[in-house]
Amino acid sequence: MDSVGTLSVLNCPSDMKKISDACRKAGRELGFVPTMGALHKGHITLVEESVRRADVTVASVFVNPTQFGPGEDFNRYERDYEGDVEKLARCGVNYLFYPDISDIYPDGFQTTVSVGNLGDCLCGPFRPGHFDGVATVVLKLFNIVRPDFAVFGRKDYQQLKIVQKMVRDFDMDIEIVEMPIVREPDGLAMSSRNAYLSAEQRIKAASVSKALREIGKKFKGGCDDCRILLAEADKVLRMAQINDIDYIEIRDPETLELRHRAVEGDLVALAVRLDGTRLIDNIVL
Ligand code: PAF
Repeated sequence: MDSVGTLSVLNCPSDMKKISDACRKAGRELGFVPTMGALHKGHITLVEESVRRADVTVASVFVNPTQFGPGEDFNRYERDYEGDVEKLARCGVNYLFYPDISDIYPDGFQTTVSVGNLGDCLCGPFRPGHFDGVATVVLKLFNIVRPDFAVFGRKDYQQLKIVQKMVRDFDMDIEIVEMPIVREPDGLAMSSRNAYLSAEQRIKAASVSKALREIGKKFKGGCDDCRILLAEADKVLRMAQINDIDYIEIRDPETLELRHRAVEGDLVALAVRLDGTRLIDNIVL
């Protein structure tokens, strides 16, 4: 086991399980933050929340191949082991679980989670197999780390809802703690993929959250017609020359069913592409 300050790095699932067992026996609450690394301020708020609540915090860094489709950015996805270790140590995280692909998917691995309807909308049709890959790895990580709670960000809203549903459906005794989206000063939601943006694309990208804010303003002004609300966002995006729009939709925040008339608490979610870089964002009305 490697150590950096008070952070210990574990690679092997059996070592992680031993630590988790010892925590449980000692009656220490264990918080968990699963990540794919390249940690930014968004991740840090998740980690800080766990450190604040739990006796022991485990973060994982694992770029999960099964949630990337063919032609997606698995190989290009930023890896920054040294930087991640330093940030986690500074936040007071106790353990970093940093497995190899063969630890998570050993030879012969074949059982996967199939998420239901919640995975069929929003990002689902644009990223076939993505949410099954996410649910499968999260289930594995939960079984290895066996936390009392796990912290997820609302930036990946659909992922959050799918994980919450999986935990309920499989009777897992793990509380899912939700944290708000962390934004750059111009409103862009923090994401590891923002690093792919050129200076020009980065300027355009500010219009993604602006489009959502326009919907929020119009809704507060009394408009609940989703067609009109969405047209407003579409206008903002096209003005910024963001024309490659996977979806902008208003949906029930729990079932993710499509709305025609928006009500308070509804989810407004979008995904756009800026020359191949896919950005997602959402607000709750
Ligand atoms: O949100 C992420 O970073 C990933 O989807 C997760 C939850 C770590 C699973 O690989």
